[in-house]
Amino acid sequence: MGTMLQVLLSALFAVALVHSDAVGMTEKTPVGPGFLQDVNTTDSGVQNASLIAIYGYNNQSNDIFLFKVQKIHKAQVQVVAGLKYFLYVDIGRTVCRKGKPYNLKYCSFETHPLLIKRLTCHFELWVVLWKQSWKVTETSCQ
Ligand SMILES: *[C@@H]1O[C@H](CO)[C@@H](O)[C@H](O)[C@H]1NC(C)=O
Ligand SMILES: *[C@@H]1O[C@H](CO)[C@@H](O)[C@H](O)[C@H]1NC(C)=O
Ligand SMILES: *[C@@H]1O[C@H](CO)[C@@H](O)[C@H](O)[C@H]1NC(C)=O
Repeated sequence: MGTMLQVLLSALFAVALVHSDAVGMTEKTPVGPGFLQDVNTTDSGVQNASLIAIYGYNNQSNDIFLFKVQKIHKAQVQVVAGLKYFLYVDIGRTVCRKGKPYNLKYCSFETHPLLIKRLTCHFELWVVLWKQSWKVTETSCQ
């Protein structure tokens, strides 16, 4: 859990940066509670959010192997009593088995043709800044 907390805290930091960038960037676009804003998929706040999302996905899945994000197609953020991330991603099965200590960074994607599995997912995460807590509110994959 130590690592996840680090990721979380870093993500919170990133969120604040993302938001102020977006505000500075678009004078004519209305910015405020409820508006969905695109965020660069390479943004490290988005990267951190995707780690939190896949952590939640793996915790829930029935697969004996861990999945990892392969590609982030689109990322958006919305101000709702904190911040809500909307991620559209591809995930893939790795060679790492669940139930062992792991670092996803070192889990490579499965390459055996019979074991390869890819899914397209929509994740939503809600980050409450002042409570320093996050919650995965939507996980749907197909
Ligand atoms: C995202 O998380 C990583 C790993 O914890 C951290 O090094 C990085 O600074 C974070 N990004 C931001 C913008 O905080
Ligand atoms: C996203 O950021 C990367 C580098 O950080 C940049 O090369 C790219 O042009 C950006 N994409 C958009 C759509 O702004
Ligand atoms: C992991 O899954 C269990 C049971 O589904 C759930 O109670 C728990 O909150 C989950 N933990 C995380 C960090 O998602």
